[in-house]
Amino acid sequence: MEKLLKKAEETHELTKEEIVSLLEFPFTFNSSLFIHSDRVRKKYVGDEVHLRGLIEFSNYCKQNCLYCGFRRDNKNATRYRLTEEQIIGFAKDAAEQGYKTVVLQSGEDPYYTIDKMKHIISEIKKFDLAITLSIGEKTFEEYEAYKDAGANRFLIRIETTDKHLYTKLDPDMDWQNRLKCLDNLRELGYEVGTGCLVGLPEQTLDSLAEDILFFKKINADMIGIGPFIPNANTPLKDALGGTFELALKVMAITRLLLPDINIPATTAMETLNPNGRLIALQSGANVVMPNVTQGDYRKFYEIYPGKICVNDTPTKCRGCITNKIKSINRSISTDYGFRRKISKNCF
Ligand code: SAM
Ligand code: FES
Repeated sequence: MEKLLKKAEETHELTKEEIVSLLEFPFTFNSSLFIHSDRVRKKYVGDEVHLRGLIEFSNYCKQNCLYCGFRRDNKNATRYRLTEEQIIGFAKDAAEQGYKTVVLQSGEDPYYTIDKMKHIISEIKKFDLAITLSIGEKTFEEYEAYKDAGANRFLIRIETTDKHLYTKLDPDMDWQNRLKCLDNLRELGYEVGTGCLVGLPEQTLDSLAEDILFFKKINADMIGIGPFIPNANTPLKDALGGTFELALKVMAITRLLLPDINIPATTAMETLNPNGRLIALQSGANVVMPNVTQGDYRKFYEIYPGKICVNDTPTKCRGCITNKIKSINRSISTDYGFRRKISKNCF
């Protein structure tokens, strides 16, 4: 294993078989895989942690993903939509708290027309914030309109590169179209984020290795890896779900292969382990996305059960994560936190 990890740290290349053997190996926290991925994180993206303020603005969704609490057939969800002014107001508050980026996330909700989104984006730009969108599959023209209005980044997880599994779990959706969305976003000049769910039913280690190689192939700027957590209001309620350990390994190997990208310590990781985000930050991650949504809405944004911080305020979340980050001798970045690409020749 040590030879393999040394190769990954030095060349940032691994074969599928090598990735599978790392995924199979029972690494414990702080053991060699994570020491190597943490070292790569430090060398390429440094000790600063980028905070992105997350605004969860609508949990309406026209899609029906089998794993997701927002799916349109979930009649037990309490649905809500924030008004344009609420979204802009939450972004303003986030800027006043020191955030340099906000992430606007929702289900696929056609209520927010191009004009509404352009208004929201252009108003938020006045607060000197970078804007990341995470609103699902849209047309090239929509992505273009949001980019022109000032959006900088877009997150859309491929979820799994196993097309057969994707077709089963995301009925009415087309894997090829998701890929096209990623291509369109890249062409339009967005910073492109993708990622996968770990522990989906029937997902294999082979398929997770393919996911990691896919991230490298498309040279993603940001990768979010999260364990799949079964939601009682979905058809996958009895599934086993993913483990924190496996999600952490996928994340660490991703850092080894894509040394200079932004990788969040995901909320789903902390849902499965009370120290999940800190462990992730010490295993390759360099981004945290604290929730800046105010009021009761956090409770209703229930993609999966047990989500952290649902009863907290943005101020409390900011203070809490700041202390945690300082406790591991890392600092909070004061810039926008765009990817600083390191030339391939340096590898
Ligand atoms: N609608 C947008 C999209 O599809 O990209 C953004 C919102 S969607 C709820 C955000 C992410 O939640 C998805 O990309 C998926 O990976 C994750 N997710 C959905 N259901 C989940 C579950 N049960 N456990 C963990 N993560 C889940
Ligand atoms: Fe739409 Fe999950 S089913 S965001």
